[in-house]
Amino acid sequence: MASTGASSGRPSGSSSSSSSSSSTDPLIASGLLCQMKDREKYIETFNFPYCDDVVKYEKVAKIGQGTFGEVFKARDRKNMKKFVALKKVLMENEKEGFPITALRELKILQLLKHENVVNLIEICRTRPSQHNKYKSTFYLVFDFCEHDLAGLLSNVNVKFSLGEIKKVMQQLLNGLYYIHSNKILHRDMKAANVLITKNGILKLADFGLARAFSVSKTGQQNRYTNRVVTLWYRPPELLLGDRNYGPPVDLWGAGCIMAEMWTRSPIMQGNTEIQQLTLICQLCGSITTDIWPGVESLELFNKVELPRGQKRKVKERLKPYVKDPYACDLLDRLLMLDPKKRADSDAALNHDFFWTDPMPTDLSKMLAQHTQSMFEYLAPPRRPGHMRAAHSQQMAQAKPSSTLDGGFQDRVF
Ligand SMILES: Nc1ncnc2c1ncn2[C@@H]1O[C@H](COP(=O)(O)OP(=O)(O)O)[C@@H](O)[C@H]1O
Ligand SMILES: [Mg+2]
Repeated sequence: MASTGASSGRPSGSSSSSSSSSSTDPLIASGLLCQMKDREKYIETFNFPYCDDVVKYEKVAKIGQGTFGEVFKARDRKNMKKFVALKKVLMENEKEGFPITALRELKILQLLKHENVVNLIEICRTRPSQHNKYKSTFYLVFDFCEHDLAGLLSNVNVKFSLGEIKKVMQQLLNGLYYIHSNKILHRDMKAANVLITKNGILKLADFGLARAFSVSKTGQQNRYTNRVVTLWYRPPELLLGDRNYGPPVDLWGAGCIMAEMWTRSPIMQGNTEIQQLTLICQLCGSITTDIWPGVESLELFNKVELPRGQKRKVKERLKPYVKDPYACDLLDRLLMLDPKKRADSDAALNHDFFWTDPMPTDLSKMLAQHTQSMFEYLAPPRRPGHMRAAHSQQMAQAKPSSTLDGGFQDRVF
């Protein structure tokens, strides 16, 4: 990116000016002041190549507030029919210039071009001026998608048929197949990071935690951080401290999202890492070296006390919601404890679920009934509560416990 050198948008000599501001020599001080003013004037008028002024877009509404900043819906002033999403780059540690995490997200987004991956149009900046102390704010500019999956699932009026659920999952797995083929791990799969356009096209979004991965031929282990993936979607290998993980981490998330298509709420909502592992064992069975050879080498396996003697109940507990036996079988394969046994995106896409009637159905007709955008940020906050072991059958048959204004369901089920 040619513009990043100047990206901090502030006089690069500011440190020298501050160190000499204690100077008592008025001549030197006024000389430096002139120099600073010159630099500010230069920055103010400099036309950064490849990095337009964000005023070309007009903010319409705030649609997201993540850990790393705000997201806005905005309109292109030159083409009033064109909408974009502006994701503000948070300058946590401005002394170090453009944040490395945002740079990584940007590089990965520039590499990934696919129908099922959110499209980055460009990066824009605010014009440096005395109002922002000559510091630009940067925005990633994306094609606008009307909904995110968490928003859609929060609204009881949005009803997915089996064929439509198949379409969602097929597109999601196509996206994962593509990014994994390009040696990128997403590492933050969850419903809020899955966007859906009004035409029913699904886009994987939020590459803020993504990274490139390599499969070592020499058997050398990778040492990636395991503090990734939102807790409720975090796979057992990460919770047990694995640092040499790969694409299966994203397929666990895909399994959690798939189940959520029916349960309408995240299936395992732990408050702590230990609780999350306990919930996983209660659903997928106890973690043993028999069902997961090699698990004993993971750092935390011998350090944490986990439920023993638990039977695997994935199909049994999801059946009341999911009903379709092919869907239950695919879920069972995605929610495998041992990452080596977990279905990869290719195997999942070849599963009978996608190749039996009803076949995957276009979503645009169903979405045309909803004229309002649905985003997690705009939906009422999730209530704690997760798929209950004992009462799942009764709860599945019960009507939603309450329906709030706008059709948003109380997410306890
Ligand atoms: N291109 C887009 N179109 C529509 N909404 C978007 C787009 N990108 C992000 N959003 C919304 O903003 C939210 C936060 O964006 P995201 O990229 O996930 O950032 P964060 O790292 O803050 O979670 C998303 O969950 C989604 O609701
Ligand atoms: Mg996000």
